[in-house]
Amino acid sequence: MQIARTIEDARFMIMEAKTRALQEGRSTVTGLVPTMGYLHQGHASLLRRAKEECGVRVLSIFVNPIQFGPKEDLSRYPRNEDGDFQLAEENGVDVVLLPSVEEMYPRPIQTSVRVAGVTERLCGASRPGHFDGVATVVSKLFNIVQPDKAYFGMKDAQQVAVIEQMIFDLNIPVEIVPCPIVREADGLALSSRNVYLGGEERRQALILSETLRLTEGWLAECQGDFAAVKEKMAAHIRTMPLADIDYVDLMLYPDIRPVYGLPQEEWTGQRLLAALAVRFGTTRLIDNRLFELGMPKGAISNV
Ligand code: PAF
Repeated sequence: MQIARTIEDARFMIMEAKTRALQEGRSTVTGLVPTMGYLHQGHASLLRRAKEECGVRVLSIFVNPIQFGPKEDLSRYPRNEDGDFQLAEENGVDVVLLPSVEEMYPRPIQTSVRVAGVTERLCGASRPGHFDGVATVVSKLFNIVQPDKAYFGMKDAQQVAVIEQMIFDLNIPVEIVPCPIVREADGLALSSRNVYLGGEERRQALILSETLRLTEGWLAECQGDFAAVKEKMAAHIRTMPLADIDYVDLMLYPDIRPVYGLPQEEWTGQRLLAALAVRFGTTRLIDNRLFELGMPKGAISNV
């Protein structure tokens, strides 16, 4: 595994890795797993998928300042270079791109990629500018690495929708591979931010996955009254005194459009994202579950 701290080195090392793959008669399909580091088993699952599907595997680790708001956790975002290298090595990474902020943004950036529509709700509404920062840095990473495939976790389901929209609109030749959420045995979705949770906060945070599990039944019985399901979800989360709701919502996916009040023809056969963002103390956690609506006999199923 090689480590590139500059863009020039990364390009050279990726070219070398491709040449090696070619010489050894392996696939030169290049997979990128973009991350902000402090890797956990969720990231490992993306790396394993990239290993299965690609002959050349690139991991980027970059805590991207332009996707954090002024009051967000940029300065205290957790880091663990050695742990990240170990997990990368164990999961078959060829090149780690670990640029500094100065390397990625040597001058104040004057170009930004802004995706409209899918960014208007959920995290796009509660974190203004966040998805401009994500779309911009992901475009830069795509230009640096030039991957054939890029792997993203569905815990950030809206981020996946934003990037899919971006590559469609801008004809970027990268296949986006969404990968399932990885959870702890007790249901908590893995996140680098879980490290901030105190013991009681972590215990109460289990309400998120529990609410998403119960949502399945509430949706099956709701007969199109999605507003009532949203209310049940919020009420269930509020049973935890430390839970401070940022949003609880039901959106058609991937357009991230509210489902409430739509005629049945507009949601039948569509995917529905049940999405949560809730603070426990100073830690904001997100979680979601994707359902398919209006399956035979009006049932719902997990996607
Ligand atoms: O999901 C993340 O970790 C980040 O938003 C990403 C995609 C690496 C861009 O900084």
